[in-house]
Amino acid sequence: MNEQQFIPTKYSNTIDSGKFTWSSPSNIAIVKYWGKKKDQIPENSSISFTLETCKTMTSLSFTKRKLSSNFSYDVFLDNEKKEDFKPKIETFFKRIEVYLPFLKNYHFVIETTNTFPHSSGIASSASGMSALAMCLMSIEKQANPGMTTHYFNQKASFLARLGSGSACRSIEGDLIVWGKHGMIDGSSNLFGIKYPYDVHPVFKNYQDTILLVDKGEKQVSSTVGHDLMHGHAFANQRFKQANDNMAKLIGVLKNGDVDAFIEIMESEALSLHAMMMTSIPYFILMKPNTLEIINKIWLFRQNTGLPISFTLDAGANVHVLYPEKHMKQILEFIKNELVAYCQNGHYICDKIGFGAKQL
Ligand code: DP6
Repeated sequence: MNEQQFIPTKYSNTIDSGKFTWSSPSNIAIVKYWGKKKDQIPENSSISFTLETCKTMTSLSFTKRKLSSNFSYDVFLDNEKKEDFKPKIETFFKRIEVYLPFLKNYHFVIETTNTFPHSSGIASSASGMSALAMCLMSIEKQANPGMTTHYFNQKASFLARLGSGSACRSIEGDLIVWGKHGMIDGSSNLFGIKYPYDVHPVFKNYQDTILLVDKGEKQVSSTVGHDLMHGHAFANQRFKQANDNMAKLIGVLKNGDVDAFIEIMESEALSLHAMMMTSIPYFILMKPNTLEIINKIWLFRQNTGLPISFTLDAGANVHVLYPEKHMKQILEFIKNELVAYCQNGHYICDKIGFGAKQL
């Protein structure tokens, strides 16, 4: 399996104009991707739950134009033109042009909207880049109608990865692995795959209540964050830890050992933050309320024995994860005890989901 397989040789149809719309979800990593090599190749394997509620809806309209040496596109968020989104799209188009050689033949209008507020501290790059990759694949499929769904999704994931690494885990559900791992058949550095082994029913419909502790712009962009792993004193141990955690998870996902699952997930979240605290320059991305929430979760777990747990992305918000079976009691606890630590009391009830959908 290599990049060459995604370079099209010929298209059977020519298309003048059209419009495709896709909705694509965010995802939450259990084992984290933090550190990458050239060309968006991850330093370690990662696994995530695809989400259901936090999504980006993107429409891509395209009209044929005279071939030119530059890309032509306008980007809108919530009907407002966003000049500041253009550099990221430009980089994305440059990276994927060889795999979608028609890009310079069209003028594109990208209209996008999120189900979650833009400034919620929830990363929109995974859902945004995966939605755009799906729209682009719809154009390619129209040009090559014989394309299989498997190829469509795999190439969409491959393209999304070149927009934002974690976006390659947002095409399908419900558990996605990205990054070559010796114990996971079919795993690849180039795209996400559906987790191929048995998953215990306790993980079906797993709940994720996202507590918005800090809705500001990210303090450290993920690009800067990944860069911090170059020359980091603990980098190699961290990549090994992540790959070891992936190996441990295989048994845990199969036998439904939620305590072991929680230990891996929380350790991953804290290790990710530990990497940022120990890099040069160093950052503390948690806020006082992040810590308050974590301590309350631990206390509640100790007192009730309920399998409530947390994970974090590269920011202050807390994802509270728990089996659907305990939803009533845990949501009550969240509302009574944790929501007070959220900015303006904001939180989002999400759960494991099944991937992108064409609208
Ligand atoms: C902390 O996918 O946002 O969410 O590839 O530079 O776009 P780029 O990074 P990005 O990094 C996400 C990092 C993370 C962990 C994870 O989702 O695995």
